[in-house]
Amino acid sequence: MAYTLACRWIVWFALLVVLISPASTELLDDEQLTQVNNTHFDYIILGGGTAGLVVASRLSEDPNITVAVIEAGNFENNNPNVTNATGLGLAKNTRVDWQYESVPQVFGGNQSLIWSAGKGLGGSSLINGMTYIRPSKSQMDLWASLGLELDWNRYFTASKKGEHFRPPTSNLTVVGAAYQNSSHGYAGPLDTCINPHIIGGDIHDIFNSTFKKLGIPPRSDFCGGELRGFGIQDVTVDQLADVREDAARAYYYPFMNRKNLVVMVNTTATRIRWSPQDSPNGNAMASAAEVSHQNGQISTIYADREIILSAGAIRSPAILEHSGVGNPGILSRQSIDVRVRLPSVGENFQDQTVITVLASTVQESPPGFPPFVAHASLQDLFGTNTASVYNATLAKLPEYAEAISAHNGGASNPSVQQHLLKSQLDLLFDSKMPASEIAPIALGKAIGCVFWPLQPFSRGSVHINSTDRTAQPAIDAKFFQVDFDGQLSVATARFVRKFLTTAPLSDMVNASSLVPGFALVPEDATDAQWLDWIKTTSQYQPNYHHLGTCAMLPQSMGGVVDNDFRVYGTENVRVVDLSVVPLQVAGHSTALLYGIAEWASRKIRPQT
Ligand SMILES: Cc1cc2nc3c(=O)[nH]c(=O)nc-3n(C[C@H](O)[C@H](O)[C@H](O)COP(=O)(O)OP(=O)(O)OC[C@H]3O[C@@H](n4cnc5c(N)ncnc54)[C@H](O)[C@@H]3O)c2cc1C
Ligand SMILES: *[C@@H]1O[C@H](CO)[C@@H](O)[C@H](O)[C@H]1NC(C)=O
Ligand SMILES: *[C@@H]1O[C@H](CO)[C@@H](O)[C@H](O)[C@H]1NC(C)=O
Ligand SMILES: *[C@@H]1O[C@H](CO)[C@@H](O)[C@H](O)[C@H]1NC(C)=O
Ligand SMILES: *[C@@H]1O[C@H](CO)[C@@H](O)[C@H](O)[C@H]1NC(C)=O
Ligand SMILES: *[C@@H]1O[C@H](CO)[C@@H](O)[C@H](O)[C@H]1NC(C)=O
Ligand SMILES: *[C@@H]1O[C@H](CO)[C@@H](O)[C@H](O)[C@H]1NC(C)=O
Ligand SMILES: *[C@@H]1O[C@H](CO)[C@@H](O)[C@H](O)[C@H]1NC(C)=O
Ligand SMILES: *[C@@H]1O[C@H](CO)[C@@H](O)[C@H](O)[C@H]1NC(C)=O
Ligand SMILES: *[C@@H]1O[C@H](CO)[C@@H](O)[C@H](O)[C@H]1NC(C)=O
Ligand SMILES: *[C@@H]1O[C@H](CO)[C@@H](O)[C@H](O)[C@H]1NC(C)=O
Ligand SMILES: *[C@@H]1O[C@H](CO)[C@@H](O)[C@H](O)[C@H]1NC(C)=O
Ligand SMILES: *[C@@H]1O[C@H](CO)[C@@H](O)[C@H](O)[C@H]1NC(C)=O
Repeated sequence: MAYTLACRWIVWFALLVVLISPASTELLDDEQLTQVNNTHFDYIILGGGTAGLVVASRLSEDPNITVAVIEAGNFENNNPNVTNATGLGLAKNTRVDWQYESVPQVFGGNQSLIWSAGKGLGGSSLINGMTYIRPSKSQMDLWASLGLELDWNRYFTASKKGEHFRPPTSNLTVVGAAYQNSSHGYAGPLDTCINPHIIGGDIHDIFNSTFKKLGIPPRSDFCGGELRGFGIQDVTVDQLADVREDAARAYYYPFMNRKNLVVMVNTTATRIRWSPQDSPNGNAMASAAEVSHQNGQISTIYADREIILSAGAIRSPAILEHSGVGNPGILSRQSIDVRVRLPSVGENFQDQTVITVLASTVQESPPGFPPFVAHASLQDLFGTNTASVYNATLAKLPEYAEAISAHNGGASNPSVQQHLLKSQLDLLFDSKMPASEIAPIALGKAIGCVFWPLQPFSRGSVHINSTDRTAQPAIDAKFFQVDFDGQLSVATARFVRKFLTTAPLSDMVNASSLVPGFALVPEDATDAQWLDWIKTTSQYQPNYHHLGTCAMLPQSMGGVVDNDFRVYGTENVRVVDLSVVPLQVAGHSTALLYGIAEWASRKIRPQT
């Protein structure tokens, strides 16, 4: 194994010269390996992913602060699958992808699903689809009404601070690329733009006109807090170099020469070690992180100030549980002593279900790739039935809340859960609120309309199920646990098939090639027929926007971290990654998370 090492101890500086290159394949011999053992840093960040590297970068701006990042994967900056900006991300399903497997989805056709998540310095930003879309303003303002400090204004300011948007060139504006100046930041480290690989404008015009016929207006920018409409999405791409922009490229490699910032790759964080004494406030005090090297050896790295968990929504709660923070029932099954009783750890897991309705075209269509995107509201999808759907769903909320609370180990009681669901439902009922995202992709003779309802009401979990601290936890999204999720999926599927069969798009679509076709799912199919197709035939997938497992909420509402990202009951352990997001939002998760991580960095180091 090799590490990029830099630290305040003079003895390490010699090592630094040898190991500074991230492309280095030199291996540390055992003697060097033991040198990381029992060393001290001010902050240790567990997981060098999307959020972890923002925090590492911002904290290490102060040369007096030492920061170590522990990353299970490798450096991937020279991996063409990671850098190539063509396509949607070529590193998915390669060694850069954890490819976690879920438990059978008993409400959703009973199949196990593969959850992609990035493994390597940069995390999921190494393998993702590059889409950069912020959530909607009112969804972020909902957080404030739940007792959080973060609202749209604070998030938007922090998010723009991280962004460096490059406006589209004139050859892109002629094919429909547009933007609103005020929706973007221009001085941050993260390069965003409109994908320079957009080709062809004809199909865009056809999509544009067809969506307009179905009531979806054009939209010139999706990053300013309003999303309903059809347009071209932004991406995390370095427009000038034509290279994918990931968290390491934005927040680490430009700063890797900092002597106070150390990244250890090929190293898996296994647990937090605690001081025997609690803090004067009675909170548990973390003293060190225990890490496992590829050869199975264990090192201890001391945190003089704090430990920050950034291992993503699947692994951060697992590290907490292995450290004795969580639901006593779950910990005792693995013979783990309870350090902090916190049953909300690992609960509240939420992801979206990606469903595809497709068709072939009569002739090769004008290319429409990378995908355009439409956001449809509940009114767009349910039309004149919207009010009765709302009323019926409202009446069912007590039942939904009971079902969720019955399975969440006491993380939140039914009345709290009902309050959270009602907040979600009321927002959805707002006529401008996006309820589903639809991405029509035209390639060759195929048009695939990929879509997902944005805000699931079902609540799953991730929990450890082994004493092996490097093993993946059991993942259960409980997809389609709540029938409203199925109803919204069906309404969107109907809408999307209607899109494919509405002029002018229908003029180019081969009607007998629709999937699902009218023989399988008739024109007047019931919800049950559609839902059966979705669950058993459509091969729906997760959206890999999994979140919520260390929710930022008041503890009484099922929170794991407070407004300062601090884990309840601990003095110096924080979580900064997508697990803190309490409820699904519209947009795509990196645009949300880079802003949240910028905000968190200021909480930890106010000068940031
Ligand atoms: C295939 C795919 C496509 C996506 N498409 C998009 C998109 O187009 N647009 C968008 O905005 N979002 C997209 N997302 C989602 C988005 O990329 C993620 O939500 C986001 O990057 C998550 O960031 P994070 O910091 O929470 O976790 P991650 O970025 O996943 O970081 C976690 C890091 O911790 C490391 N780690 C885990 N366990 C340990 C351990 N025990 N010890 C040490 N290190 C550990 C991991 O290797 C990883 O590097 C996509 C995700 C995937 C997987
Ligand atoms: C990390 O491990 C992989 C696989 O064992 C190895 O190829 C790579 O060189 C290691 N990375 C470093 C920086 O040593
Ligand atoms: C780290 O040191 C401890 C003793 O403090 C020892 O048990 C352990 O094996 C060492 N780990 C490595 C990787 O050398
Ligand atoms: C770092 O610490 C030194 C000595 O304590 C101090 O003089 C200096 O101002 C500090 N620098 C920063 C950036 O805080
Ligand atoms: C890149 O992806 C291809 C195909 O998905 C795979 O075969 C190859 O091994 C990957 N390369 C690296 C460096 O991971
Ligand atoms: C990127 O990938 C595409 C599609 O796989 C390929 O055609 C292209 O040559 C690659 N570009 C580079 C710079 O490797
Ligand atoms: C779901 O799958 C599991 C394992 O694959 C199986 O044991 C169980 O019986 C199945 N349940 C249903 C309802 O089909
Ligand atoms: C648009 O212009 C840029 C810069 O000149 C160029 O790199 C890119 O290939 C052009 N794109 C198209 C679609 O012509
Ligand atoms: C969609 O059509 C509208 C006119 O109705 C136009 O203003 C808009 O620019 C079109 N969208 C794009 C991105 O071409
Ligand atoms: C775009 O916005 C930035 C910052 O908000 C501002 O400084 C700049 O003048 C604006 N540019 C234009 C062309 O409006
Ligand atoms: C929904 O409920 C409200 C309040 O009870 C009622 O006024 C309204 O008529 C109902 N609408 C429908 C369509 O059921
Ligand atoms: C948990 O572990 C037990 C024992 O190894 C195994 O039987 C069970 O299937 C696992 N459950 C999950 C959800 O992975
Ligand atoms: C239309 O699709 C059907 C079913 O896939 C296929 O049999 C037929 O040849 C297609 N027609 C044309 C004109 O492509």
